[in-house]
Amino acid sequence: MSLENILNQKMVNIFNALGLDSKFAFVKVSDRPDLSDFQCNGALALAKSERKNPREIASQIAAQLEKDKDFAKISVDGPGFLNISLADGFIAKIMNEAAADERFGVEKAKNPRKIVMDFGGPNVAKALHVGHLRSAVIGEAIRRIELFAGHDVVSDVHLGDWGTPMGMILAEIINQDGDLSKTESYDINQISAFYKKANIRCKEDEAAKEKARQITAELQNGNPEYQKAWRHLRKVSVEAIKKNYELLDAHFDLWLGESDAHETCGKIVEMARNRQIAELDDGATIIRLSDDKKPPVILVKSDGGFGYQLTDIATIKMRYDDLHAQEILYVVDKRQSLHFEQVFEVAEKLNLAPDTTFKHIGFGTVNGADGKPFKTRDGGVMNLEDLINMSIAKVRESTPTADEVEGFSAQDIEKMISQIAIGAIKFQDLKNNTASGYVFELEDFAKFDGKTGPYIQYAIARINSILRKAQDAGLKFGDIIITNQEERDLCLKIAQLNTIIARAEAEKEPSIISDYVYNLAQLFSGFYNTSPIMSEADKTKASSRLKLAKLVRDILKLNLYLLGIEAPEVMLKAEAKTAA
Ligand code: ARG
Repeated sequence: MSLENILNQKMVNIFNALGLDSKFAFVKVSDRPDLSDFQCNGALALAKSERKNPREIASQIAAQLEKDKDFAKISVDGPGFLNISLADGFIAKIMNEAAADERFGVEKAKNPRKIVMDFGGPNVAKALHVGHLRSAVIGEAIRRIELFAGHDVVSDVHLGDWGTPMGMILAEIINQDGDLSKTESYDINQISAFYKKANIRCKEDEAAKEKARQITAELQNGNPEYQKAWRHLRKVSVEAIKKNYELLDAHFDLWLGESDAHETCGKIVEMARNRQIAELDDGATIIRLSDDKKPPVILVKSDGGFGYQLTDIATIKMRYDDLHAQEILYVVDKRQSLHFEQVFEVAEKLNLAPDTTFKHIGFGTVNGADGKPFKTRDGGVMNLEDLINMSIAKVRESTPTADEVEGFSAQDIEKMISQIAIGAIKFQDLKNNTASGYVFELEDFAKFDGKTGPYIQYAIARINSILRKAQDAGLKFGDIIITNQEERDLCLKIAQLNTIIARAEAEKEPSIISDYVYNLAQLFSGFYNTSPIMSEADKTKASSRLKLAKLVRDILKLNLYLLGIEAPEVMLKAEAKTAA
């Protein structure tokens, strides 16, 4: 059991024994670490609801806590706060248990849920750009956190392959080639170029836009010629997109798209009409929402085409019927929040997925130094691949080549560089609260110090190096004991792991993990500066610290893993030309 839950259980027992309502029997990490390790404010809440004196209740509880030798110091402060400090031996015991457990004491969800995760959301014919970064990176982190917490997760990329852009490209190809006969010879670059031209043309020319709409509607209605060409566009795009997601290590169980919902879309429209939930409005089929300030949902456009909203509504039905989703999470730009509010309300009105909860995890944009969405130097949209290459080039600058260091092949170094470069991009993204946007720090994001991915990776590589040296010197792991303040602080941080992961899972917020992993790495530095391992003469201390170091290494690695970041075994710094 995790430390916090052990403490909660002890409190519940005491509350019960004293005849107090145990719903107030909860501890939390102390807001005043100078006074205590944990605090319980239950006496205050209880006194309020039962009109009793809070200090008196707190003192009663304190008297019981004092009998337990797992606690070193109990005090009642202020109006009735209980301050609780743990005995070093108790903390050490928790650490030894965590070190012996493959989950480091992290508990599994008692009621595992079936969660469908919708993230990625790339569009056919459009290269992934920096706007797609956050959905893939945040989505993958949440996917791993949910899985580790014990839930059953199915991730679906939800490809944008059925909207007007499809008709726009087909129209553009016809425009340039006369027909679609050459379509199947086009590669991703050519297809993207058609899309770019189509976009410009449709902005300027209303007739071209109308034509694209018409082709989209015909495509959706099964025009075989359009479908054949469209299948090629989709296939080539998916191949390119898969490569990008592989680089980012984002995993999708399903590669379904909006088009896969087409048949269900038809059923939804029929259902909504039959139940008189939908109405006709100027040739379109719409559903009005309870809040009339929100625009109605357009199920079918006046030209007969299905829109973005309908595909999402139909997809909910499929995720409920086929995948039995109990929870559906959408990791999508927060500018789409109205879209999701509309979609969720219609799904509820039509009772498509009873008992399923929906959540839109909306994220802010990646900005440049000017506070506007991040662009390339010449003002164009920053492609994801370009961003990754830029990061790789940056890390390469500060990494020695294979000729400069012994024992590393060029391949080893390339792998290390890419792990660091991608880790740097991902950590920079995940250290920020999901809902807020952030400025891409071109200069600092790949530094080895500060709150960066490479800083954490370096902490891991440093411990790896200590472990190798210890092995060579024959130093063995021993039981963890606490002999100074730095060890104690480090251990208490480790003991928070369960709570941290539970919070990140409940709040769907990876930055809770990145804050934690950064603090843990910092505390490790403090510990290592004051608590020698290899040079410690007292072997009991040395081998306790060695075990503690390994535990920290494993927990740092786990947390990076949950963020979707790999940790290189070894890291090389160009200036020092030494390995850590
Ligand atoms: N393809 C969409 C876009 O680029 C994002 C899809 C998000 N997911 C969803 N189920 N709507 O805007």
